[in-house]
Amino acid sequence: MIIHPQIQGCVARNCHPIGCRAAVMQQIASVRAEGSFNGPKRVLVLGASSGFGLASRITLAFGAGAGAGADTVGVSFERGPSDKGLGSAGWYNNIWFRKEAEQAGRIAVNLIGDAFSDAMRQQAIETIRQQLGQVDLVIYSLASGIRVLADGTQVRSVLKTTGQPFSGWGLDLEHDALVQQSLAPATPEEIRDTVTVMGGEDWQLWMQALQQADCLAPGAQTVAYSYIGPESTYPLYRDGTIGYAKEHLHATAETINLQLAEVGGHAWVSVCKALVTKASAYIPVLPVYLGLLMGVMKERGVHEGCIEQMQRLFATKMYGPRGVVADGNRLIRMDDHELDPAIQAAVSALWSKVTPDNFHALGDFAGLRQDFLQLNGFGLPGVDYGEPVSVASLTELMP
Ligand code: NAI
Repeated sequence: MIIHPQIQGCVARNCHPIGCRAAVMQQIASVRAEGSFNGPKRVLVLGASSGFGLASRITLAFGAGAGAGADTVGVSFERGPSDKGLGSAGWYNNIWFRKEAEQAGRIAVNLIGDAFSDAMRQQAIETIRQQLGQVDLVIYSLASGIRVLADGTQVRSVLKTTGQPFSGWGLDLEHDALVQQSLAPATPEEIRDTVTVMGGEDWQLWMQALQQADCLAPGAQTVAYSYIGPESTYPLYRDGTIGYAKEHLHATAETINLQLAEVGGHAWVSVCKALVTKASAYIPVLPVYLGLLMGVMKERGVHEGCIEQMQRLFATKMYGPRGVVADGNRLIRMDDHELDPAIQAAVSALWSKVTPDNFHALGDFAGLRQDFLQLNGFGLPGVDYGEPVSVASLTELMP
């Protein structure tokens, strides 16, 4: 079959499996071009199949370990091909990553299922014991709208503001247009639920389980990803439900850090730059800020995609010559370029002028759209999109 992109609002409804391979290969090539660094050798990645988690895994497998690269176990929640469709981009990313990593002599195991569940924690522990012995680094990169608790209760996160309602232009990727969007204030219960899903509790459960099972190597580290953003986005993010969850994540890093003292380890939060991913494209209004930011950062030569951010994180701010480079709050600041006052002044000036008629002229919305399509395997150089994809051969591919 010939596969064309299907986008609904800001959600991709399909993916191009062969294009996903090209996207993974592009990230591997980018990491290889940067050369190796002395990173961890055995890594568990929670949320390994897309966005920051995938970029972390690729960086560590193909860039870390003084040329040898890391062995990895990756956990993700993805769909394979079925009568409902071809499956998700992350499903194929896992497959192509594993094939390339194995070809390079690395161990690469994909565990597909619910990372919030005790069953998945047990499966990961067994896999680590059998395949890696212990791990030197645990990456926490889950982005989810729902968490099922141990007693079966389903808790949903919401993307809302707190305090006053907030409205502004949002991006409709399906129609390549701006639309008015508003964020209603969340109820206390919605804030609490979002903290339950996206806060630090689950990260702590993972670290406790791994430590109790003796799966953490001496000096093991863990890092979770967060966002703060500039003041102009506070109503959307920092002062929104997700911001409350991230505050909880930051506080949990301190608790985990104390727990890890027993193995001589440390827990960190890396505050990353805003980037187009499956998760961020879904946040109301934020993609307009992203399109403007991308334009300004590209113009000034400091734009980074997921892979460049993660390469810089591990090679220079966690495993570089200076070890972990953190601020006074023990946060690793990968948002340093984004928050440069000159960049923010330029973005704010554009944001105040943006309309549905001029947004393409003011920001890099074509670049944002291209990144979004590429996350789903579309629009990659070197892929013949007119060539039919054999569905039968896809069903034989196993993660
Ligand atoms: P993403 O949507 O690209 O990746 C999310 C990953 O979580 C995927 O691998 C998915 O399979 C996995 N996942 C979701 N629910 C799961 C479950 N129940 N069980 C197992 N795996 C599950 O998202 P992205 O943007 O890479 O986000 C990762 C982290 O980075 C999040 O904590 C996010 O807040 C943070 N971050 C994102 C930024 C952005 O601009 N995209 C900026 C700064 C931080």
